[in-house]
Order: sequence, then structure tokens, then C-alpha cells
Amino acid sequence: MNSYRIASIPGDGIGVDVTIEARKVLDRAAELHDFGLQWTEFDWSCERYTKTGKMMPDDGIERLSAFDGIFLGAVGFPGVPDHVSLWGLLIPVRRAFSQYVNLRPVRLLPGTTSALAGRTADELEMVIVRENSEGEYSEIGGRHNAGQPGEFVLQESVFTRVGVERIIRYAFDLARTRTGRVCSATKSNGLIHSMPYWDEIFAQVAAEYPDVKAEQCHVDALAARMVLQPDRLDVVVGSNLFGDILSDLAAAVTGGLGMAPSGNINPQGEYPSMFEAVHGSAPDIAGQGIANPVAQILAGAMMLDHLGETVAAQAITTSVERVLAKGAVLTPDLGGRASTTDLGKAIAEALG
Ligand code: NAI
Ligand code: MG
Repeated sequence: MNSYRIASIPGDGIGVDVTIEARKVLDRAAELHDFGLQWTEFDWSCERYTKTGKMMPDDGIERLSAFDGIFLGAVGFPGVPDHVSLWGLLIPVRRAFSQYVNLRPVRLLPGTTSALAGRTADELEMVIVRENSEGEYSEIGGRHNAGQPGEFVLQESVFTRVGVERIIRYAFDLARTRTGRVCSATKSNGLIHSMPYWDEIFAQVAAEYPDVKAEQCHVDALAARMVLQPDRLDVVVGSNLFGDILSDLAAAVTGGLGMAPSGNINPQGEYPSMFEAVHGSAPDIAGQGIANPVAQILAGAMMLDHLGETVAAQAITTSVERVLAKGAVLTPDLGGRASTTDLGKAIAEALG
């Protein structure tokens, strides 16, 4: 029997609530599909930061490296600046483990209504391939002349040939397994160094994939297209910042943030990959028991798929679809009155 060691980091806010439910679903899937999940839980979070001054211990990365997968809720809480929670945990993990692909599938699930009236499930299915290791999220820069009238800040972007080429190549390979279309998010009119470079590499890679239809679109126009003509999009590839923004938008035009999963993937498997929902810790609804656990559950399905348990992963997705289509147990963001636990339980039970 295959058995996987999983590091669970529930984090803060609703990250904790949705991770509990997702673990129940994953454990049930493991039981039914004959594999083992050995969980180790870490309390790395903003709460820990306020007590110890660290989001995770100094040897955190080393400890995580022993696992087959990392299952993350969300981090962030009022009182701890967001750059502390992001740079103290998430970004170091993504970079140390070379999780350079942030894969964010988006689709309109049965039984849920799109913010775009009249769209059906077959018109709204895309995947955002977000560059996850460099780009606009860089530590290079600083504040100068602090407190002086001439105060200014510099925030540099970093685009390497290796980094840009491997993410674009990943998008083209993925397109071959889907509808054969890739759209690249650019902004070469405004960002005159980084984006023309990105576009140049996109064109070079595209030439190697004559069977894939490649196009590029300025990110602002692409944002509008995602709302007005989502059926024209399938694989969308973008830099770290563009991919981040577009994936929240894509989630919003489908069932909302409560439905969107995400994988931080090291395609070569040299390091553990990390799976999480797109949403954050939602302090506005934390502790109320009403967070939608679907995004975290689907992130769990992506993790099983990545580990090779493809049948169990598909079974979880099917259970989610069945429960949503039935419409009897829905959380408030989906127009229902069920709790996080009710919905998690219904999905675990639908597995059989
Ligand atoms: P958010 O995603 O936490 O919440 C945005 C809105 O969506 C809120 O109104 C929230 O109630 C709603 N929402 C999100 N997930 C939901 C769910 N599962 N069910 C029902 N409603 C849901 O984003 P926000 O408010 O910008 O950030 C809150 C905190 O989360 C911040 O500290 C931020 O830094 C952190 N964050 C962490 C992320 C991570 O750990 N990967 C990602 C995004 C934000
Ligand atoms: Mg985001």
C-alpha cells in the first residue's frame, strides 16, 4: 500500500476551518482507495508569530523537505502585516522548493451560478499558470532618504531566461493535454523592459509548439476578456503578479473564491509541492463556521493527483460536483445556510 507523508499547515483564520474539512475528505478517499496519508501538523501562523516573532522555526524549510506534500490553509491575520506572513512562510517555501509553477484551475461547477449570468460549465473552464518564483515579487529595492522630503522607494522586478522559459513551456505542455490554446498575459506597452523580454521568450517557445494556438494579450484587456468572453480562454500564462490578480478574477467569475484551488508545483519532483486554496484567511468570517471548504478540498484533490492517486483525486472532484449539483448543503457564499462542517461532511459522505 502506498503511503504519503503530508505536512499540514492550517495557518490562520478560515485556513484552519477549511483544512479540517479537507483532511476528513482526503482521509476518507485514502480509506476507500487503499492508500495511506500520514499527517504531521505544524502550527506555523501569525498566531505563532505574535508569540515567537517567527512565522516558522529557523529550520522550517529543512523540516518540510522530508514530506511528500505540503497542505496549506492560509496565513494572514489583522495585527501582523501581510508582507510578514507572506515573506515569513509562503514565499520562502515556494522558492526553497523551486515550486515555480502556480497552477490555478478554474471552472464553473454544476449547481453553482456564475457572476456572469447565462454562462454554462463548458464555457467557463480555464487554468491560470502563474510564475511562482520571481518576477514582480522580489526583495530587491529599498526605501531611500527615509523621512526626508526626497524620500522614495524602489521595487525591482526580476525576469530570468530560465524562469520565464520554464513557466511558458509548462503552459504549452499543459495546453496539449487540454484544448490546445495558450494566452500569455503581457503589458509590454507599459513595462518596457520586462514584458517585451517575456513576449520574446513566449514567441520562441511558441515556435516549438506549432500544434498549439498561441496568443498574447495585454493584461488589462485580458481581465476584460475574462469577464466578457471567458469561452475564448483556456490556458492563461502570466508572471507572478499578473497570474495572482487574474486568478482571483477568474475565481470571482465562476463560483467565487470559496471554490478555487491552487497548487505550488515543483514539476521535477525534486522537492515537495504545496497545495492550498486561492483564497486567504478571510478574517471577516473567521471563527463563524461558514467558510466554504470546497477550494481547500479541491486543493487536496490536486495534491492526490500530483502524488499519483489520480482515481481518488477524480472521485473527490466528482463528489464535490454531486453535492453542489444537488444543492441541499451549501455554505452562505453559495446561497445556502450550511456550515463549513456540514458541507465538508456531505462531500466526504458522497465519496461512498
Ligand atoms: P481573502 O481571500 O481572505 O478574502 C476575500 C473575501 O472573500 C472575504 O470577504 C472573504 O470572506 C471571502 N472568502 C474567501 N474565502 C472564502 C471561503 N472559503 N468561503 C467564503 N468566503 C470566502 O482575502 P483578503 O481579505 O484580501 O486577505 C485576508 C488575509 O489573508 C490577509 O492577511 C492576506 O494577506 C491573507 N492571504 C493569504 C493567502 C495565502 O495564505 N495563500 C492568499 C491571500 C490572502
Ligand atoms: Mg492571490
